Amino acid sequence: MPGTVVVGTQWGDEGKGKVTDLLAQDMQCVVRYQGGHNAGHTLVVKGESFKLQLIPSGVLYPHITPIIGNGVVVDPKVLLAEVDMLTSRGVDCSNLRVSANAHLILPYHQMLDVVFERHLGKNKLGTTKRGIGPAYADKAARVGLRVQDLFDESIFRAKLEVVLHEKNPLFAKVYNKLGYEIDDLVATYIGEYAPRVEPHVADTVDLVHEALESGGNVLFEGAQATFLDLDHGTYPFVTSSNPTAGGACTGAGVGPRHIDRVIGVAKAYTTRVGAGPYPTELFDEVGDHLVNTGHEFGTNTGRRRRTGWVDAVMLRHAVRVNSLSEIALTKLDVLDALDSVKVCVGYDVDGDRVDKLPYHQSDFHRAKPIYEEYAGWKTDLTECNSRESLPAAALAYLEGLERAIGVPISLVGVGPGRRQIIHLSSAA
Ligand code: IMP
Repeated sequence: MPGTVVVGTQWGDEGKGKVTDLLAQDMQCVVRYQGGHNAGHTLVVKGESFKLQLIPSGVLYPHITPIIGNGVVVDPKVLLAEVDMLTSRGVDCSNLRVSANAHLILPYHQMLDVVFERHLGKNKLGTTKRGIGPAYADKAARVGLRVQDLFDESIFRAKLEVVLHEKNPLFAKVYNKLGYEIDDLVATYIGEYAPRVEPHVADTVDLVHEALESGGNVLFEGAQATFLDLDHGTYPFVTSSNPTAGGACTGAGVGPRHIDRVIGVAKAYTTRVGAGPYPTELFDEVGDHLVNTGHEFGTNTGRRRRTGWVDAVMLRHAVRVNSLSEIALTKLDVLDALDSVKVCVGYDVDGDRVDKLPYHQSDFHRAKPIYEEYAGWKTDLTECNSRESLPAAALAYLEGLERAIGVPISLVGVGPGRRQIIHLSSAA
């Protein structure tokens, strides 16, 4: 089982960190392959809660090399703040490795994210305003700065000259903002950040392959999720990277033959932050219940998440685009108090039943969910630790959902703690 990918199957915040953390025990490396500090993982270890944005969750295990891969966009300020926070709480970060090829987020990226969202007004995407989109845009336009540029001042300056030649007039003339001085950026990035980042910088492609070649297990930890994927998500309401399993290959530097297990993480309901279509969204007291019981406020931005029933049409699509071998279903306990629970199994689009994700997004915007309804179990699941300990109604729901998705549900989360997870099928 050398290469395992953990990927979100909905719109993010599925509890990937918890699943990654569970698998970490058998891993030599945990690699983040895309995104940046727009992510937010909360891990609860021995009653202590750790919130991570950039550093892979595997950092909490001394035997793991946590790796930030080439596909990630790195804000060094955030990286160092996270290292300091973990160190102050007794977590050793000396093992952390960052790809020399990862792109940097600079202050102008964040500012562009803020002013562009403001410019979009009511059509805004609802980004995390961390500069993620603008950093990836510069990467694609081949004017990005990479982690390795921190260690060569002449290259750093030359690249900034090219990029600021274009961006400073944009700030001044379009957004009525001050531009950025090269000397200021050099002082902060090369003067302050570079010496502290340098011990962590490595050829991470080599590290991953060395681990795989020596028979070690490598976990590729996706951030965000399938329906926020730049190619497969609900464009333009997406992030600017590829969270889907294929992104693990490009974002970490391995070919598909190194991946032999792909675990899709899904919540037992759905949530979304930011704008975009959402067929099963709830605007009633059940939606409020999911927000309050599931603590559905962003780890990162504190925003109230939109909530709705689980959508098996989306999950079937996630199975295909990620080659999912199984589903880890999280937060089942959040449904404990409900009289009945629903699974969306198809859509009604203008009177026609549709069982696949509509390829035309306008149809997805108009799609009305067709539900299967299951009796609630009205039992506290947080102490359940095996298939046998689950009430019959909860099992019936899980079996119905599994049928609707088409791959096994191998793990079921019943609470935030490390041990509150049930191994349901032999796939786990
Ligand atoms: P960006 O990634 O900041 O550009 O935001 C683009 C979209 O992705 C917005 O709708 C965000 O709310 C969403 N998003 C980004 N990161 C996360 C995440 O970790 N969880 C959930 N949504 C996210």
